[in-house]
Amino acid sequence: VENRVYKISIIGAGRIGGTIAHLAALKNLGHIVLFDIDEGLAQGKALDLSHSLATDTIIGTHSYQDITDSDVVIVTAGTARTPGVTSRDALCEANVAVMRSVAEAIKSYTPSAFVIVITNPVDVMTYVMHKFAELNRNMVLGMSGILDTSRYNYFLSQALGVSPKAVQGIVLGGHGDDMVPLPRLTTVGGVPLMEVLNQKGLDEHALTQVIEKTRYGGTTILNLLKTSAFYAPASGAVEMLEAYLHDQKKILPCSVCLNGEYDVRDVCVGVPVVIGQTGVEGVIELELNEMEQMNFKKSAQSVEMMVKSIGWTS
Ligand SMILES: NC(=O)c1ccc[n+]([C@@H]2O[C@H](COP(=O)([O-])OP(=O)(O)OC[C@H]3O[C@@H](n4cnc5c(N)ncnc54)[C@H](O)[C@@H]3O)[C@@H](O)[C@H]2O)c1
Repeated sequence: VENRVYKISIIGAGRIGGTIAHLAALKNLGHIVLFDIDEGLAQGKALDLSHSLATDTIIGTHSYQDITDSDVVIVTAGTARTPGVTSRDALCEANVAVMRSVAEAIKSYTPSAFVIVITNPVDVMTYVMHKFAELNRNMVLGMSGILDTSRYNYFLSQALGVSPKAVQGIVLGGHGDDMVPLPRLTTVGGVPLMEVLNQKGLDEHALTQVIEKTRYGGTTILNLLKTSAFYAPASGAVEMLEAYLHDQKKILPCSVCLNGEYDVRDVCVGVPVVIGQTGVEGVIELELNEMEQMNFKKSAQSVEMMVKSIGWTS
């Protein structure tokens, strides 16, 4: 076990970036560099966090040189949805430009870092990062599956009257309206969900409602908050960060560039991966039935179409 201090750079010191810095500092995961094009924002948040935790291990900057030799870079930079923006895809054009500039900086200053992308539309941004920063696919992941799964687990737990911690769900596919929750492979306290639904006298309709709430969970929060969610997205990223730094070999649903798995090639989309000290140490291929595979393919195809629409040819 390595006993050194890790360097974690967070690009974008907004709502999600700031929350990640707070969580990572609370957990003592390493030294933190908070970067933003808005210099005041990065420095102000770094100071506030430093005062809150009585630490001198967080800096705020707008100079990319400060991310040199990071162990991990987490990318939250870009535009977020505002109420009325129903699709994350609408952010694509603006955020591709942001992603290209961040990718250039990673390539120049910290090419060996493990990179976690959060900026939306996250599957497309993960692909752009993978290509422009010239990262091996084991070193770049998008965060969304953890978030979608936590929403699914929560809404399902409320329908069943159990703790969200008792539900072990799984959501595959892109982080969009065609994400693919998998009730067939969901368990509640170790018991297959279908059995639990029967016992509780709940029907398909209850399940459909849970799935709809999951699909539109982000939009529901957006309409309430007037900005997009940030606590849960930040928690998802920190779970991935810890899995990598502490070689946990956790199996987490993340957007990864597939290379023939699930019959999909050269598209980043959400599937379970094993995260350990070398990054993505494996892609778990679940046996999907015909309908699940069809829905998964549809989701992957919509990510692929979005990548094509930005003019990227691999
Ligand atoms: N993956 C997910 O599941 C998920 C969930 C929620 C939100 N998001 C996305 O995460 C991103 C961040 O959301 P947020 O709520 O923190 O937004 P935010 O507006 O609070 O923060 C974004 C920050 O990025 C900075 N920025 C913009 N361009 C930059 C550049 N070129 N270089 C460096 N910094 C730059 C801005 O100054 C801002 O401080 C958005 O794209 C949002 O849609 C993803």
